[in-house]
Amino acid sequence: MNLALRVGRTFADGYHELHTIFQAIELFDDVHARPAAPGEYRLAFQGEGSAFLPTDDTNLAMRAAKLLAQHFAVADAGAELLIRKRIPVAGGMAGGSADAAATLVACNELWQLGASRDDLVPLAAQLGADVPFLLFGGTALGSRRGDVIEPLEVTGNYVWVLALSHHGLSTPAVFQEFDRLALPTHTTIGDDLPQALQAGDVAGVGRALVNDLAAPAVSLQPRLKHILRIGREAGALGSIVSGSGPTCAFLAADGKQANRIAERLAIFSSVRTVRIAQGPARGAEVIA
Ligand code: C5P
Repeated sequence: MNLALRVGRTFADGYHELHTIFQAIELFDDVHARPAAPGEYRLAFQGEGSAFLPTDDTNLAMRAAKLLAQHFAVADAGAELLIRKRIPVAGGMAGGSADAAATLVACNELWQLGASRDDLVPLAAQLGADVPFLLFGGTALGSRRGDVIEPLEVTGNYVWVLALSHHGLSTPAVFQEFDRLALPTHTTIGDDLPQALQAGDVAGVGRALVNDLAAPAVSLQPRLKHILRIGREAGALGSIVSGSGPTCAFLAADGKQANRIAERLAIFSSVRTVRIAQGPARGAEVIA
């Protein structure tokens, strides 16, 4: 999740300067990495949206495994990857980036490379702007392309209600729409959100949520505006388009209110399904 996402100027390579606050939430995919014959890489998906995902070299997880092998000159490297998806696909929830971060961590273990998270950061940044953050999780400030991160001190738990949409949005398309609409750019986040996070002031966090990609996402999918309104009317402390959308996120005061907001959103036909997830959560980690 991006609790703040401010879009600045465009770099020469077409990427946009970002100032963002990331928070990892308790919505995980599982990446299983097993040994395979030298030079053999296989990737398969199960679960949420898996039919829509490529399993060749265009997949970020596949690229992560091969980049790691190449960088560490792993002799006889190969891997069989199985990814169980729960993070919505093309939902603006950095699911592909999370899988790439987890693949780096999993193959580091599989090939016993002994690389630290810090060692993996440059590779992560090469794979995608969000990938370095997902190696660490928690709550962090992101700058440059969103790939330069700095942990933020945060108090308390944040209960998020996520409204998933029927149709995904492509991140490059949303950035292009931002440029096409010639929207104002921003190069700072301001103090309100970091201060509220530090104080554990959930209502203050709700008020300070901001996303410069919300307008282009709503321009491409106008019904997001209604979803955001429904969540607010149901009493959410704050509402935001998640990343480049179309998932909409609502901050609830507690679990009980989250359930109420989720029930209201679930009956709306533009909402495919609803999830409740707490943050901050851990980044990619080895579980077995
Ligand atoms: O880095 P990642 O692959 O996640 O980015 C996907 C796309 O989003 C990029 O190809 C680019 O079009 C856009 N993007 C951007 N500026 C950023 C991050 C992403 O324009 N800082």
